[in-house]
Amino acid sequence: MCGIVGYCGARAASEVLLEGLKRLEYRGYDSAGICVGSSGTDFELLKRKGKIRDLREIVGKDVAGTFGIGHTRWATHGEVNDINAHPHTSESGDVVIVHNGIIENYLELRTLLEKTGSVFQSDTDSEVIAYLIEKYYSGNLEETVRKVLPLLKGTYGIAVLHKNEPGKIVGARNGSPLVLGVGNQEMFLASDVTAILAYTKNAVYLNDGELVTLTSEGYRTFDIHDTLIQKQVEEIGWELEQIEKKGFDHYMEKEIHEQVASIRRAFQGRLNKDSATGHLGGLNMLPYELLQVKRVVIIAAGTSYHAGLIGAYLIEKLARISASAELSSELRYKNPVVEHDTLYFVVSQSGETADTLYAMREVQRKGGRVLGLCNVIGSTIARESNGGVYLHSGPEIAVASTKAFTSQLAIFYILALSLARMRHLSVEDGLRIIQALEKLPDHIQRILDQADKIEELAKKYHIYNNFLFLGRGLNYPVAMEGALKLKEISYIHAEGYSAAEIKHGPIALINDTTPSLFLVPDDALRDKVITNMKEVKARNGRLIAVAVEGDTEVADIADDVFFIPHTDEILYPFLMVVPTQLFAYYCAIELGRDVDQPRNLAKSVTVE
Ligand code: M6R
Repeated sequence: MCGIVGYCGARAASEVLLEGLKRLEYRGYDSAGICVGSSGTDFELLKRKGKIRDLREIVGKDVAGTFGIGHTRWATHGEVNDINAHPHTSESGDVVIVHNGIIENYLELRTLLEKTGSVFQSDTDSEVIAYLIEKYYSGNLEETVRKVLPLLKGTYGIAVLHKNEPGKIVGARNGSPLVLGVGNQEMFLASDVTAILAYTKNAVYLNDGELVTLTSEGYRTFDIHDTLIQKQVEEIGWELEQIEKKGFDHYMEKEIHEQVASIRRAFQGRLNKDSATGHLGGLNMLPYELLQVKRVVIIAAGTSYHAGLIGAYLIEKLARISASAELSSELRYKNPVVEHDTLYFVVSQSGETADTLYAMREVQRKGGRVLGLCNVIGSTIARESNGGVYLHSGPEIAVASTKAFTSQLAIFYILALSLARMRHLSVEDGLRIIQALEKLPDHIQRILDQADKIEELAKKYHIYNNFLFLGRGLNYPVAMEGALKLKEISYIHAEGYSAAEIKHGPIALINDTTPSLFLVPDDALRDKVITNMKEVKARNGRLIAVAVEGDTEVADIADDVFFIPHTDEILYPFLMVVPTQLFAYYCAIELGRDVDQPRNLAKSVTVE
């Protein structure tokens, strides 16, 4: 949440910062600002409510400066307006800061400062940082920041400028990501690598408790006691073209279409037909250790949680290991029972979700072995987990997660397959699953080729204010995911439910203005789902079904049906979810929504 960018070098800093902020906009987009300077001139600070394109309007070409910091905000404290936008300055204007995170004791600090005459401008928690740095400024910015940080309670990624020390940025991290980009006679600082990818592929990831000083000449990483920390320069594995829209209208549309390739990549080198099993090298576990696993707990939020629910269902079904998925925000505070023969998986596209990160640390504190399933390479969860697997879906920019979800599923299927093969699953059954998995990308392509049919459905149904998404078994979490997608980008209210559960309450909602979207695979529960459809129809409910090619019975009952290819009965979640993603996308388009940056949301939720 919130994006930070910093630059020191010879280029026009305002351009680098605006470009960087544009790339980071998915982290927060309610207001933005930059502050630039050059030796011997005053800082120029421009900020405003709105998107980066609005900020660009007030940053004229004549904003000179070769170093500076910028910020794109997702409001936590104080309403969305020009004043609360970052950067924030100290009272005299000598200190300028940008901040990502939450300063929990800001009111206490602010009251203390007010008692000695300080007058604050904004309602933010962040402004207090600039005031404190000014108050304690010793003539050395690094030293002062080191002295001020222990006064702050909460989380931060910060970048700081001081007028007396032109060309220098001091950054610090505690709970909010910061990465350094190393260029030739130029240095970059950012919340994530997408902001710097256009300029350098050399990154240094800061850990919590670390600080950095940047000048165009180079950088110095150190801790709060001023002990030097040697950091490794790592190559960023992503290409710039991966974060372009490539002819699609929206990132979400592009990412839905990328699933054919991203699922293939997730499987690549991880399925072995000779031994009819899967292999996930990054788990750092020997087969005999995996064999001792008695329980699996999957920890995640949002879409990743829905993937986790399917993962747990599948591991229990295929490998006969007790498995469950937990919301990270809840697990952290329930004093979880952590056992040595349990394997914990944290699932996070961004690898930065605060709830998931803190839940992971709590399990680790209790001695649990935690493995990560992340997409963003070098992210905090990826680095702090005890092993794990990268999704390799490529950068996911749209706030609504799509391709990461199917890649998370892919990893869970490989995992369940290998755990099952170590126990009782036969070579024949293992091979059958692998062969079916390998056909999935082609099946998904066939669904995408019919996207216009879903677009037609969206044209017909986007006028409704409430939806039910219904499925059973492995497809119940898919119904939850479909409902989440629809509400987050179209703002239509939707509930994802077990089709069996509606008669225990939600059926009261059914009338001709609340359509139900049923997921009907040809699995063991198909007939039961059809019965649930009839129950809805009997109450005048409108029915949309996603069913398997040739299922005329479902087509006869539903008002509208979208057909997907036939696959193995355990693999339908992959094929069921894609039509729901497209449905949400086209409904949002019909309603004129901001698909990639829906209101009130941000891509990675780095605050609790
Ligand atoms: O980066 P993560 O996978 O940890 O993010 C978890 C959720 O915040 C995320 O999936 C969110 O629900 C998405 N906006 C859903 O589309």
